[in-house]
Amino acid sequence: MSLWHKHAIFEKNSIVLVIGILIAIAIGGLIEIVPLFYLKNTIEKVDGMRPYTPLELAGRNIYVREGCYLCHSQMIRPLRDEVERYGHYSLAAESIYDRPFQWGSKRTGPDLARVGGKYSDDWHREHLRAPRSVVPGSVMPDYSWLAATDLDFSRINDDLSAQALLGVPYSSDMIANAKADVVAQATNDNPDAFELGKRYPKAQARDFDGNAARITEADALIAYLQVLGTLVDFKLYNDKANIR
Ligand code: HEC
Repeated sequence: MSLWHKHAIFEKNSIVLVIGILIAIAIGGLIEIVPLFYLKNTIEKVDGMRPYTPLELAGRNIYVREGCYLCHSQMIRPLRDEVERYGHYSLAAESIYDRPFQWGSKRTGPDLARVGGKYSDDWHREHLRAPRSVVPGSVMPDYSWLAATDLDFSRINDDLSAQALLGVPYSSDMIANAKADVVAQATNDNPDAFELGKRYPKAQARDFDGNAARITEADALIAYLQVLGTLVDFKLYNDKANIR
């Protein structure tokens, strides 16, 4: 019997065929996957990235809770129209501490990957309270309760621990100081902001929601929006990217 005829075993016997398919796929899979174990990292690091501060992380949790990702992406694609509108295209390393990532696939509103610093805190506060008060014709819903709801950060250190478990480099010092760091970042001229800045370089500390008496969900969400896209200094990378 020639080799050709032996192939009939596969065609006549479904179990043998399934086993044959599994072996073929396993070989293909190994060839693709095994080399990745020998790379130190599949994401190129960039300078400036750091984990979110506890207040920013709390804001991010609100962003996810409210489903902002249903209308907003956080990934600028390397296409000319996007780069001209939003800035440098997103790098993989910029979402290295995003668990889960917020790239999104729907843009009813604009991409938010670099919205940090684009508007004042006051603008964000007004916009969240009543989007049409600052952008007539906006279809974004009101989130007026955020500025009226105290931020619950009683378990923020557990949030940091969970992120650390997933691989975000939160040190035990960061976790132990998480609650104090929330307060330091959300209030004006807090002496602890110096320590916060040492743990989280470039952390912006101030009263984000314009209500010094309380730390609200708006404080956290605005702190998060104001850090988006601000950590990497693209003056260092623009020449290399050669896109503009
Ligand atoms: C139903 C879709 C929708 C949802 C949900 C939504 N937005 Fe928007 N958003 C928009 C649209 C449309 C715009 C553009 C008009 C405007 O500025 O209001 C916008 C604009 C924005 C802007 C200004 C962006 C820029 O570059 O001008 C920010 C910031 C923003 N949204 C934040 C949020 C946050 C935070 C949430 C969740 C709490 C959220 N949005 C939920 C639709 C949405």
